[in-house]
Amino acid sequence: MGRLDGKIALVTGAGAGLGAQIARRFREEGASLIINDLRAEPAEKVANEVGGLAITADVANSGEVAEMFGRVQDEFGRLDVLVNNAGFGFTGDEEQIRKVNETPFKQMEEAAAGGPITTHSDLTVNMSDEDWHRMIGVHLDGTFFCCREGLKIMNPQLSGVIINMGSIMGTCGGIGTSYGAAKAGILGFTRSLAREVVTRGIRVNALAPGFIDTDLTAPFEAARQLLEAQTPMGRFGETDDIAWAAVYLASEEAKFMTGQTLSPNGGYHMSQ
Ligand SMILES: NC(=O)c1ccc[n+]([C@@H]2O[C@H](COP(=O)([O-])OP(=O)(O)OC[C@H]3O[C@@H](n4cnc5c(N)ncnc54)[C@H](O)[C@@H]3O)[C@@H](O)[C@H]2O)c1
Repeated sequence: MGRLDGKIALVTGAGAGLGAQIARRFREEGASLIINDLRAEPAEKVANEVGGLAITADVANSGEVAEMFGRVQDEFGRLDVLVNNAGFGFTGDEEQIRKVNETPFKQMEEAAAGGPITTHSDLTVNMSDEDWHRMIGVHLDGTFFCCREGLKIMNPQLSGVIINMGSIMGTCGGIGTSYGAAKAGILGFTRSLAREVVTRGIRVNALAPGFIDTDLTAPFEAARQLLEAQTPMGRFGETDDIAWAAVYLASEEAKFMTGQTLSPNGGYHMSQ
């Protein structure tokens, strides 16, 4: 018997990385999957793998999101689990990524040499309106749009589970203020929504992963040794480290959990 037998689950951004692995584990535990992604081909590939339905939509576009949940209502008639996972990381050009990777090493060298520190990352002062809005749009607007439409199905059921993807960057800060703001916003949104819908029997929790091996962290390969050294377990996590946490939150085993942030992070950040 699977821990998610008979459940209908929609995972956003499930064409790769954490979302794809969450979908695989959900399937193994007995759920039927709707695989959302911005990119059609990866979504189809994962949907074929898990025997699910692929829906291409940009979660930052409220019209596309409404259409996606309309299809879920029409084709499944219910929704038991919604995982708001779609997202992206740092999006600078090659030169900016090189700078992000090199800056902490240069700063440590300067500090070790007795200072002063003259190397600065200056990311915020150089951020465009467009980059700021896209980051907030995909992560925070996207989470809101999907919750709003998902609740239209879950509310009358008087049951459901929502899992929102935060990050340790939203709890302890890190590279990129727009990313940190979006992820911290998701954690606050999660707690307020959990209080709002608890009377309908719907649980809302967040995951706040540490550094996990996916396409999202690939640009930081040059800084990997440093990030691993800052992680007490001395390594990046695997996608399964997050997928199993999602299975737990989605399952009946977590029936007393709502408004919580679960943070598999190898000890990088220990305060919740
Ligand atoms: N990898 C990590 O270390 C890490 C750590 C903390 C949090 N996260 C979060 O986990 C989530 C998944 O990250 P990942 O590491 O698997 O990244 P990834 O790049 O491997 O996969 C993200 C997927 O989301 C899709 N996507 C991006 N924008 C979208 C949009 N607007 N609409 C629909 N789909 C969209 C992409 O096409 C991609 O398939 C993100 O929210 C990310 O911020 C990742």
